[in-house]
Amino acid sequence: MEEKEPFQLIDGICWSSEWSFESLRYALAYEPSPDDLFIVTYPRSGTTWMQNIVYNLQTNGQPFDADREHFFAQNPALEIDGEIGIELMQRPCAIKTHLPMNRVPYHPLAKYICVIRNPKDVCVSYYLLYNSWGDVPKFEFNQFFQYFIEGRLPFNDYFDVLRSAWQRRNDKNVLLVSYEEMRTDLRSMICKIANFINIALNDELLEKVLKYSSFDYMKNKYDAERRLFEKNIIDNIEDKEAAAQRREIFMNESGIKVVRKGEINDWKSFMTPEQSRQIYDRFMVTCKECEGLKNYWLKWNI
Ligand code: A3P
Repeated sequence: MEEKEPFQLIDGICWSSEWSFESLRYALAYEPSPDDLFIVTYPRSGTTWMQNIVYNLQTNGQPFDADREHFFAQNPALEIDGEIGIELMQRPCAIKTHLPMNRVPYHPLAKYICVIRNPKDVCVSYYLLYNSWGDVPKFEFNQFFQYFIEGRLPFNDYFDVLRSAWQRRNDKNVLLVSYEEMRTDLRSMICKIANFINIALNDELLEKVLKYSSFDYMKNKYDAERRLFEKNIIDNIEDKEAAAQRREIFMNESGIKVVRKGEINDWKSFMTPEQSRQIYDRFMVTCKECEGLKNYWLKWNI
């Protein structure tokens, strides 16, 4: 018997019924304004971390927990929050998207920060997050790995997202940084990001951004703030069943954790040598189309 696809392809994007189709279509048709800033990533590549750094810079060093409603309003997820999210935000802010760069709405004056992370850590981190989502088929790691390597998970193929970002890295309105660089030299990365989005950085602001985007600060506070934010939304949902479903996903303390371990090469406890080799093989195929990408792999000893 033929295996049933767990996810649908909507306009070429692998999508879960967990999210609305309308918001995805809105995202694909969105017309950016020249002052839009996008954060473009594959899930689990350091998206929230980058959102937090940009938010700190844009607010002269305000931590996300000083005004959580403001933080979340200023960081809509384009294809999940759709039009409602975009209408709530006030520029300057940052629009998060997991669409591959060649499908992200483009404007020559808008800016795009792409964060990449090594595929082995992404796969493990995504697996752990994925299984805490509500309305998705649950997978064991080996099964999830198979979908990952075949690019059949929500938000498509990791390697495709990587390739489309890498190929644009020299564009004037694109900044490509890696999770690994951020983890090893956050100070330099913050300077680079501030420069890219034209924020004048002084020592005081730099120290604040370093503090509020540190792993420890985010680990202590981010997921708790996220739960409080969701609680507010859930309390206002009239449909009891929908509210209960959302509560199950977001309010469960042992469930979704955006900030988890924050390590480079944490994949070793999950992947078999054969799986690691399969990732290497696929990465090297992508490298053939992306000059310089192999150095990324070699540098971080993945
Ligand atoms: P791990 O699961 O490997 O720990 P995203 O926001 O794209 O979903 O990425 C989540 C990953 O970024 C998680 O990786 C999380 O722990 C890590 N992360 C979040 N904030 C971080 C920070 N301040 N420093 C380092 N890693 C962070």
